[in-house]
Amino acid sequence: MTEEEMAKKAVEALDIVPGGDTRRRPVHTNGVGVEGHFVASEAARDYCVAEHFQGGKIKVTARFSNGSGKTALHDGWSDVRGLAVRFHLEQDKQEERAVDLLAMTLTEFFTPTYETFLKFASYTNPEAPVTRQSAWRKLLELLELIQPALPAPYPGQTTSSVAGALRYADEHARSELSIFHAAAIGAPKSYARAAYHAVHTFFAVAPDGTRRAVRFNWVPVSGVLNTGPEDPVVDDYLKSDLQLRIKGKLGIGTDPEPVRFILMMTIGETGDDFDDPSRSWPPHRTRIVMGTLTIDAVASDQDADGERLSFNPWRLVEGLEPSNDPILSLRRNAYEFSRKRRGGVAGCPFSGV
Ligand code: HEM
Repeated sequence: MTEEEMAKKAVEALDIVPGGDTRRRPVHTNGVGVEGHFVASEAARDYCVAEHFQGGKIKVTARFSNGSGKTALHDGWSDVRGLAVRFHLEQDKQEERAVDLLAMTLTEFFTPTYETFLKFASYTNPEAPVTRQSAWRKLLELLELIQPALPAPYPGQTTSSVAGALRYADEHARSELSIFHAAAIGAPKSYARAAYHAVHTFFAVAPDGTRRAVRFNWVPVSGVLNTGPEDPVVDDYLKSDLQLRIKGKLGIGTDPEPVRFILMMTIGETGDDFDDPSRSWPPHRTRIVMGTLTIDAVASDQDADGERLSFNPWRLVEGLEPSNDPILSLRRNAYEFSRKRRGGVAGCPFSGV
């Protein structure tokens, strides 16, 4: 099978209704397009020659998203969230140059390869009827440390992929960490109050030619905070929360901080898994502050600057190189296939599609 055929199959495995509405993203369907800027730290340029790490103000386009592929908006439901950032670089002749960094609120991905991803997708049908667990079963599983309890459905929720994901975790111990995390992830108070992880390993090339294996993540300046049991479950608050925060007014929560994130780069060491996004690295690795992202505005045209945008983790620049991670390889053509299918703009210059 060619890489393009694999990518197509991977995207179709995410389609909630096979052959259904393909005019939107099959996952991370609902999101908010935003604008902002990134300023690299003094240290960043010592570790990476990539243009956006050399200092100065870099214009940024970004999109926050809910991980679900459902078109109905349920901001208040438990879900993985995404932050896709495009760093706009100096224009080279007529060519638009940019770097994309895609991240999500899980610290690891579910599976290490194409084959395991397809199997995982076959277990996690989002249209599966919601499974309810009796209080006794929950207690028993807790005492026996079998699995996290199945979350109670939200009012009006009839389907869920969580029971299927937990069944997959039962059979694939390596995926337990990310699946248990996803099953209990909850809803953030704000997109500005979540931490986002790019998960894959990249190689950062320093000015002296040193090539380091690194992983990136965004740390929210306002801190991480989820909604609690006392909060009402609201379907649509994350966009208005951003608007209020950017204006300096309080959104949901009590924090008037701007929407700002620190980009951290963790340096891998010998023995760390560079090609497996389902494996974490030990917590005591060296971490470098690479810069600060400030979100200045919610895009006024959400169609052009949100819906139609298309990010790709392979949109890189000299000084940043991909690892041999099979999931990262798969994503190159998967995102391009999805972009074309839904009529998104800006193809990836590195894609073979
Ligand atoms: C086998 C692995 C994966 C597949 C097949 C996959 C597939 C996709 C597809 C098809 C889209 C929609 C793309 C578009 O139409 O523009 C998407 C969006 C997204 N994915 Fe993945 N994905 C995978 C893994 C990951 C991982 C590991 C991350 C986190 C680092 C991630 C984060 C995101 C984010 C943040 C978006 C939304 C991007 C946007 O706002 O446009 N995905 N994914």
